[in-house]
Amino acid sequence: TLRRPVVAGNWKMNGNKALASEMSQAFDNQHFNNVEVIVCPPFPLLTQLSKESVKVGAQNISKFDSGAHTGEVSADILKDAGCEYVIVGHSERRVDNFESNGLVADKVDIALKNGLHPILCIGEPEDVRDAGDLFDFLSAQLNAVVSKVGIDAFAQLTIAYEPIWAIGTGKTASPEQAQEVHGFIRDFLATRNKEVAQKIRILYGGSVKADNATELFSQPDVDGGLIGGASLDPQSFISICRSAA
Ligand code: G3H
Repeated sequence: TLRRPVVAGNWKMNGNKALASEMSQAFDNQHFNNVEVIVCPPFPLLTQLSKESVKVGAQNISKFDSGAHTGEVSADILKDAGCEYVIVGHSERRVDNFESNGLVADKVDIALKNGLHPILCIGEPEDVRDAGDLFDFLSAQLNAVVSKVGIDAFAQLTIAYEPIWAIGTGKTASPEQAQEVHGFIRDFLATRNKEVAQKIRILYGGSVKADNATELFSQPDVDGGLIGGASLDPQSFISICRSAA
């Protein structure tokens, strides 16, 4: 296809130095054809991942450039630690840390201004889907970012669609459910900029495992995955990366 597949591992608040070196070693000398592999460990482990084997991403970024913001990590610090990517707007941060659509948009903006590629996460809770408000909900999440950075800037973004009810639950979206939403997201972008919509990679996340990855990734608008639990096991993660080729 015209889009290079991506598989990104989000370690969330898991892992340690030993896992970082195990993962780097496991990915040395692995070839996945065209697949781009990204690992997003906790901040202190960013520099431990070998950039020869995988690309490195952070799980969060400050909305500020630098200065007196205790506990925050800036775009510059992330780049210095070897990051090319940063996950923005993961549902766990939207819930645990009250990140609003507006704050998520500010974070996408500062990442882009500093040359980091945001992996923008969107996704609905189950009650929103049940109420039939799925597409309105996702449109609001997307619109907040479009109005902040402009549609053309989406050429630098990767989007991850993660239905909240599928995260860490073992309850994966069916390939048809994933495709329906991915198609919606691409159409949403296409009405604003056709070229950007064709180029942007849209990843699925939510209980992707080695045994369901191939079917999900074979959907026409699913360009790879954002993997939580299964990205902590090098062999599972390698197998999922192969599924995207
Ligand atoms: O960022 C990753 C997602 O939240 C998916 O997590 O694969 O453990 O369901 P999971």
